[in-house]
Amino acid sequence: MALLSVDLKEGTKTVHAEAERSKFVKYFFKGEITPATYGRFLISLYQVYSALEKALEENKDNANVQLLYFPKELARKEALEEDLEFFNGPEWREMLTPVSPAQQAYIDAIERCSKTKPELLIAHSYVRYLGDLSGGQILAKKLQKYNDLPEGKGVAFYSFDQIENATAFKDMYRIRLNQVEVDEETHQAIVQESCQAFIRNIDIFQEFDHELEGLPLTKKEQEALAAVPIETAAAESTGFLASLAPSNLINSLAVAVGLKSNA
Ligand code: HEM
Repeated sequence: MALLSVDLKEGTKTVHAEAERSKFVKYFFKGEITPATYGRFLISLYQVYSALEKALEENKDNANVQLLYFPKELARKEALEEDLEFFNGPEWREMLTPVSPAQQAYIDAIERCSKTKPELLIAHSYVRYLGDLSGGQILAKKLQKYNDLPEGKGVAFYSFDQIENATAFKDMYRIRLNQVEVDEETHQAIVQESCQAFIRNIDIFQEFDHELEGLPLTKKEQEALAAVPIETAAAESTGFLASLAPSNLINSLAVAVGLKSNA
């Protein structure tokens, strides 16, 4: 059996690239996400992390989950509360309802894993926390740069105070991933659940697309989007990724390349 850290990285490459191409991410990079939109995006994150961190806590005695359980270093719920107050004001909890369809689907997926196959929570931890320690750090810099945030304010979510060296931590996390002891079927299921978790993140991004409408992409971005190999997406529709969530994946790819409207 191949190393889980390697299979996760390889297996999620396509969906990672797709996440990076999301409209939301593109606008984030251009500094065109308003603080109000970002405040609402934080609500989505809060729903996801509340569910994830509750599920991890409930399953921390599972030997495999325990290997990847680092509440002190990784837990984001409290940090999110700080940022939520900063961006949305003290009444932010009133914004937790109604729960949006993409938020609900993500929460349901996490709860399903928690109840039926806790090992799959490893996938959800991997996708969110390793992402936050990687691309998330780039996003934090953009957020600070474009919003002229006061020193240390509004970026608690991206600040891992208990982690001195993110690269060393990620290396250690990957070693732990490779110590997970599961059969081949579960190993593959963790990779598949990770791909689905990426798609759930893309679905959350897409819930903000309508707020971004009217903000044109630059010429360079249009060219980059036009270069997305749609035949790859079509090929995948009969392959591995198709077994995960074909309509979601192909739809979001089609939206990304402008073949389909997002309505
Ligand atoms: C803003 C767009 C993004 C950028 C620029 C970005 C960038 C990166 C980079 C540079 C790495 C490699 C880090 C390393 O190996 O040390 C990485 C890894 C990763 N990213 Fe992203 N990312 C983005 C979006 C996302 C999203 C939306 C997710 C999931 C929600 C995500 C999840 C991950 C994961 C799980 C890894 C670890 C891969 C591995 O080594 O196994 N990323 N990202």
